[in-house]
Amino acid sequence: MVKTLVTAALPYANGSIHLGHMVEYIQADAYVRFLRSTGENVIFICADDTHGSPIEINARKQGISPEELIRRYYDEHRKDFADFLVSFDNYYTTNSPENKKFSDFFFLKLKEKGHIVQKDVELTYCSKCARFLPDRYVKGRCPKCSAPDQYGDVCEKCHSAYRTTDLIEPYCAVCGSKPARRSSRHYFFRLADFSGRLEQWLKSNGLLQDEARNSVLDWVEKGLEDWDITRDGPYFGFLIPGETDKYYYVWLDAPIGYISSTENLTHDAAAYWQGKDSRIVHFIGKDIIYFHYLFWPAMLMGVDYNLPTAIRTHGFLTVSGEKMSKSRGTFITAREYLNQQEAEFLRFYFAANLGKSMADIDLDFDDFRNKVNSELVDNLANFVYRVLSFANNNMDSRLGTPAAEKKLTADLEAKFQEAREHYSSYNLREAVRTILEISSMGNQYFQEKKPWQLIRQDRKKAVAAVTYAANIVRNLSILIAPVLPRFAERVQKQMLLESPGFADLGFSMKNTQMGKARIIFSRIEGQILKARTFPLALKVGRILSAEEHPSGDKLYVLQVDLGGEQRQLVAGLRPYYRKEELVGTHIVVVANLKPAVIRGVASQGMLLAGDDGRGPVLLEPVGAKAGDLVSAEGFTTASDEISIDEFGRLGLSVQNRRPVFEGVPLRTEKGEVLCKVPDGARVK
Ligand code: MSP
Ligand code: ZN
Repeated sequence: MVKTLVTAALPYANGSIHLGHMVEYIQADAYVRFLRSTGENVIFICADDTHGSPIEINARKQGISPEELIRRYYDEHRKDFADFLVSFDNYYTTNSPENKKFSDFFFLKLKEKGHIVQKDVELTYCSKCARFLPDRYVKGRCPKCSAPDQYGDVCEKCHSAYRTTDLIEPYCAVCGSKPARRSSRHYFFRLADFSGRLEQWLKSNGLLQDEARNSVLDWVEKGLEDWDITRDGPYFGFLIPGETDKYYYVWLDAPIGYISSTENLTHDAAAYWQGKDSRIVHFIGKDIIYFHYLFWPAMLMGVDYNLPTAIRTHGFLTVSGEKMSKSRGTFITAREYLNQQEAEFLRFYFAANLGKSMADIDLDFDDFRNKVNSELVDNLANFVYRVLSFANNNMDSRLGTPAAEKKLTADLEAKFQEAREHYSSYNLREAVRTILEISSMGNQYFQEKKPWQLIRQDRKKAVAAVTYAANIVRNLSILIAPVLPRFAERVQKQMLLESPGFADLGFSMKNTQMGKARIIFSRIEGQILKARTFPLALKVGRILSAEEHPSGDKLYVLQVDLGGEQRQLVAGLRPYYRKEELVGTHIVVVANLKPAVIRGVASQGMLLAGDDGRGPVLLEPVGAKAGDLVSAEGFTTASDEISIDEFGRLGLSVQNRRPVFEGVPLRTEKGEVLCKVPDGARVK
């Protein structure tokens, strides 16, 4: 029997899962559940993608090891996926012994076959930080349009791409000092060795989407450049064999994580990756097309492993028509959603919007409410309840023989087949549409038969009609289970059924006893997610000068640049900080606090610090500049004036070396805000 391996892209172990991610995991999960229900031999593989510079640098900033950082996210990710009913057979990590073994195997094999060469490269090096600076850790003016403060890979103003060494007046994004150039010997993978085979594969594989295929073919035709697969230490990753301070680039070992997760689960990865009777299906987002349509197949070709059978590529999630944004409060984490709303409502909404194309998917809250209320609740869930509760109340919960509805049965069976085809051709939207049609047909049938009248005139006929309708309910529960697994399970439990699968579709259920009907879903009234406000207008300030307060012996008078405006603050830092330590420092300022006069000196705001009883420790906005806004993810920021008492009641505290508001860390658009005091310290 053919074995199918389904993967979803491995999320970075560097942040929380958000609703954008969920598009893919829900899409892949529904496909896998469909295959399981049809009796196929399938495994669903994923893992955390744990390597790379951001993880190394973030861990260092938080004063923890990268291993500790990825462990925290691992637990969080697994819980988020489980609560969204994503049924991985294995959720592993790329920082595993298996992954080291397979990465070395790929590297050594490709090298032995001459597909890996060494070349010297010129890189940006910060001698103060003692490290090579990756793209996102060096900034400067764009070499094309001169825009200031651009990252080392691409300009956000003119969108041109360049190398870190091309930046004008570069500076280290971590410490601000001027970097130098330094050369390093790197390993390169000669992609061009595979141009011919890649082209052939891209053209002949019917299970790639044309949109993606064409843009990748374009690339191949333009000529493939060698791919740098080395990163210099310090780096969190696997050391390259024979090297002391060079590591595999994260995108080399990440897709190999698909194989090592397979090995970890089955102890026989070869059966899937080298065996004859296997199918490999990757689900990915459109931002990682090149890695999956080019680099990865070339790597697999180089070691004679199986190529992907299909790659399904989805678009990006937008919220109310726009890119998810932290400051607009439309960046919604998986947990924030789960705290307030049914997991299956999102599964339903995404499935109903996921067709075959790579178009972006919009989460529009009004549309979400309408679809859930009218299609899921009013059409599907109500039909189920209507039929089952009728049987409870009028038939002692006992079914008879279903009515022989020849024409309707033929129509419905055609629809079952249609839904099945849509699932297997990765078209969830059409599968859901077809299932809702079936439910409408069921509702219409029930409405026309009027069993509530019929039962008094011809009991037998009424029982036959309701039994027929109950068969439709059973079929619906089977058909919708890949999208709504918990709903389906509850329906089946109410009908005392033992998890039927696609092979059980039909109208053969008769003379069975049913359990008690219960309402599973009710309409959403009011807001989908409560708009939550963060009542502080927080800004990054740079301290321009510090003077002793004329009368308060613990106080300084600070002049602070808030980006376009200067303010005077009075702060009780004198016993803890020297003036020289303060000047030039970036701090976080409450900009909407009622102005006050403190011992005769005006104070137009307050700076924030964590304090566990041993004195204040200033918050550090990493990589930010004066005027940048600081906010709490998922909250909209209010700027009404706030009093010092109201501020006190907000209960800001420090968790994991970060200031948090209602469990959510404060941050700027550019990076996090740190506070190096123990957990639980108050922020004031
Ligand atoms: N670690 C890489 C994947 C390595 S696979 C060998 C990565 N991680 S990610 O966390 O950034 O993204 C994981 C998946 O989620 C990707 O397929 C990505 O396209 C998808 N999405 C991340 N944000 C998304 C949206 N806003 N919308 C839809 N999908 C998005 O890439
Ligand atoms: Zn530096």
